[in-house]
Amino acid sequence: QLPAAVTIWEVGPRDGLQNEQEIVPLDVKLEFLHRLADAGLAVVETTSFVRPEWVPQLADAAELLDGLQRTPGVRYPVLVPNSRGLDRALQAGVSDVAIFASATETFTRRNLNRGLDEQFVMFDPVVRRAVAEGLRVRGYVSMCFGDPWEGPVAVDQVVSVGRRLLEMGCEQLSLGDTIGVATPGHVEALLRAFATSGIGVDRLAVHFHDTYGQALANTHAALRAGVSTVDSSAGGLGGCPYAKSATGNLATEDLVWMLDGLGIEHGVDLGALVETSRWMAERLGRPSPSRVVRALAAS
Ligand code: HMG
Ligand code: MG
Repeated sequence: QLPAAVTIWEVGPRDGLQNEQEIVPLDVKLEFLHRLADAGLAVVETTSFVRPEWVPQLADAAELLDGLQRTPGVRYPVLVPNSRGLDRALQAGVSDVAIFASATETFTRRNLNRGLDEQFVMFDPVVRRAVAEGLRVRGYVSMCFGDPWEGPVAVDQVVSVGRRLLEMGCEQLSLGDTIGVATPGHVEALLRAFATSGIGVDRLAVHFHDTYGQALANTHAALRAGVSTVDSSAGGLGGCPYAKSATGNLATEDLVWMLDGLGIEHGVDLGALVETSRWMAERLGRPSPSRVVRALAAS
């Protein structure tokens, strides 16, 4: 049973731009954000309030939010890893935050400089204070399907990390295939494990990277299991600077093309989005990896 409508959680400005070799100028980031909202995206993940030494690409988070002209009705979530990040995000007037946990020990250390259990100690006060301040809080779980250092990841381990984030007060989990190794059967198995443990599909989103070309097939499997929030990035930008072999996210255009074919509502103007990704590709000096962007830009 496919959902009638899907919320596209656009992560290009955050997951996409965090991974660029050259730091993208502030005015280009702002225009990107404005164009994405104009194209009809209702959730545009904007930036991260992480330690600037760790992700210099997003060190301008405060200036970015200061210059952002918010479209009414559009959500602009930001990533926060710790209390310092939440302080900065609150100062910038955000109303939507996301913490980002990992299902594996190695990636928690590499991405957060903490152990697997220590990450919860870091997140707990953040989530509680954010909820008390009336913010919406999402919890990412990275390395849900495989980890470049540890190999395959057990579904029970992912469910256990996800459950702890929900118990803290996260309203939604985003299940990340950080390095793009998932296949549809594995997606079904993980979603079944969540269902079996009593965590409803309405609390789950999926976040696929397209390293092995499986992102769209995986998304279809998730839709069939009832997931109705899907993360993607305009033009297929993305990756994670702390996970070797992570490439771009599922491209939003590829997702929209499939949703159109399935008759699932999404609210996005595909033409405006392709135009935005073409414009961004020029700014970045390389073509978009999205097949749909390439096909439509050539036609
Ligand atoms: P740390 O080095 O352990 O920091 O980093 P610390 O807690 O020891 O603090 C050291 C200093 O940093 C202190 O300053 C803090 O104030 C400062 P001092 O007292 O020495 O002057 N500091 C900060 N400054 C500004 N903003 C902050 C902040 N925090 C501390 N928020 C930390 C620990 C978690 C901060 C670091 O590891 C970090 O920033 N990591 C972020 C890595 C990241 O952004 N990765 C990419 C996002 S995850 C992803 O892409 C996956 C995802 O897409 C899903 C998927 O694909 O699976 C979400
Ligand atoms: Mg990601």
